[in-house]
Amino acid sequence: MTDLAGRFRQLWDEIAPIGRDPRSGGYLRYALTEPELRLRDWFRDQAARRGMPVTDDGNGNLFAWWGDPEAGDAVLTGSHFDSVPHGGAYDGPLGIVSAFLAVDELRTAGVAPVRPLALGAFVEEEGARFGVPCLGSRLLTGALAPQRAAGLVDADGVSFAEAWGGPPAGARPELLGRFAAFVELHVEQGRALIEADAPVAVADAIWPHGRWRLDFTGEGNHAGTTRMADRRDPMLTYAFTVLAANKEARLRGAHATVGRVAVEPNATNAIPSKVTGWLDARAAEQETLSGLVEAVHAKAAERARRDGTDVLLTEESATPLVAFDGGLAGRLAALLGAPVLPTGAGHDAGVLAAHLPTAMLFVRNPTGVSHSPAESATDADCAAGVTALARVLEELACR
Ligand code: GLV
Ligand code: MN
Ligand code: MN
Repeated sequence: MTDLAGRFRQLWDEIAPIGRDPRSGGYLRYALTEPELRLRDWFRDQAARRGMPVTDDGNGNLFAWWGDPEAGDAVLTGSHFDSVPHGGAYDGPLGIVSAFLAVDELRTAGVAPVRPLALGAFVEEEGARFGVPCLGSRLLTGALAPQRAAGLVDADGVSFAEAWGGPPAGARPELLGRFAAFVELHVEQGRALIEADAPVAVADAIWPHGRWRLDFTGEGNHAGTTRMADRRDPMLTYAFTVLAANKEARLRGAHATVGRVAVEPNATNAIPSKVTGWLDARAAEQETLSGLVEAVHAKAAERARRDGTDVLLTEESATPLVAFDGGLAGRLAALLGAPVLPTGAGHDAGVLAAHLPTAMLFVRNPTGVSHSPAESATDADCAAGVTALARVLEELACR
């Protein structure tokens, strides 16, 4: 094991147990819950150990600074601590741990930034607690109104404002204006780097994607006494819609997933009165994505007429196509000799890309699996990621 891989492992092991569910082996690091708050304390502690003051933006996002936070022209790197339910260890935290280690690498090499370097930890990137992904970066950039964010509630009815301890500040243009570039390092969420036989890649684009809630309503009734012909069962409309989403996505070369469902009253011997399913849909082009969602809605509505049920589609979040700054991606790919890839996964980098030159680095994931406990990266590849990030930060902030 190289020195750097060993240092990676040491720092990684400090956070590895936090929020880990012993049964699934996955993580329950919902934003602003106890495990994520502990990770935020860990972030402050790591920053303090390196003499980096920490600021927050009034929205739940943290920044640790090497250099004057007020000076402007800063280079930002970092990611998020929160996970999807029973998610993997690397999605998010890898970008933060790697950022601290990249700072150490620069310092060991005697390289200092000529413009400020900031390490960021964004809140609620997954949207697993309050429903809207990239909540922190959307607030910071003004893509989401603070009033809407404040009122979003989790499964227990706790609002974001309650969890955060007050109403979020919303857009911070003067803070955003102090960043000249953002680079997010992230575990790869696919198999492209396995196929390319390379430890690190640079991203060039994020597919347009979004989340739509489908509320199916019918008539709750007795499972034993209600004749089949008399039923208005929203579970049937829901089930048909899930199959239709899969088919319509395949026909278009797009992705559609229903990974979350809620049933009322959720009893074995009762026909449901309501079923809610969340559709996650993604495609390489916006037109394809819009066509997919319209087709799924039309199929659901047609089936609802046959079932005597109702269906209501509500958009919960939408992210347009992100084309990362081509000049920056090309420069970093040449610097690192790394392949360039698009991704179907969403990231805070995608939100910030509308405001400042932004790039992403991906680190190989030998399982190719993500949003699952099987997500993985070797210490050697994580060390290669740190080395790549340190070179990028040197290039952007130290010359
Ligand atoms: C975030 O990881 C997303 O792509 O949903
Ligand atoms: Mn994720
Ligand atoms: Mn992520």
